[in-house]
Amino acid sequence: MMNILVIESSPHKKGSSNLLAEQFMKGAKEAGHQVAVFDAARANLHPCLGCEACGMSGPCCQKDDMAELREQILSADMMVFVTPLYYFGMSAQLKTVIDRFYSFNGALTGKNLKTALIVAAWDDKDWTMKDIKSHYETLCRYLHFRDQGQVLGCGCGTVSMTKGTRYPKQAYELGKSL
Ligand SMILES: Cc1cc2nc3c(=O)[nH]c(=O)nc-3n(C[C@H](O)[C@H](O)[C@H](O)COP(=O)(O)O)c2cc1C
Repeated sequence: MMNILVIESSPHKKGSSNLLAEQFMKGAKEAGHQVAVFDAARANLHPCLGCEACGMSGPCCQKDDMAELREQILSADMMVFVTPLYYFGMSAQLKTVIDRFYSFNGALTGKNLKTALIVAAWDDKDWTMKDIKSHYETLCRYLHFRDQGQVLGCGCGTVSMTKGTRYPKQAYELGKSL
């Protein structure tokens, strides 16, 4: 049994990326895992100030919800990044979380966390997911994450579009396979 932390990051609470996340969580729960959600789009989170007060090992000088999220991340076995595709990258809400990893960069790297990526995008071109996939894989390499799978939902521009694709099932099966 794993503790899985799902980090959502869309302003659409009931949107496409969260629909895929929901299917992932259904599968993961059926496989016997414990799942918690952190909604970065509704949290009180501020961008990294680059002040270097943390020296990359904390504490961060900003008093916001990152303190709680840090504890959740450091006690998880797996972290799942969920995002709409915004200009070929992750949402600013998710990037804000990732930049704030800076104050516990070493502790995070040392955990060798399992991770996964779930993305929803409007387009369905062969290059739609190229850059977010590459960014995620580089983050995995740098932060010593162990990628467990990626659901790159092309043609998932709305909830009804998403429901008509193979991606909800793919997300469910990724969760179930863990
Ligand atoms: C600011 C913004 C930027 C976007 N950029 C892209 C993009 O680069 N490529 C794409 O295919 N869709 C893009 N979209 C569309 C969304 O990724 C798509 O509608 C997705 O389903 C939204 O997911 P959500 O409902 O989880 O927020 C963009 C949407 C917004 C609002």
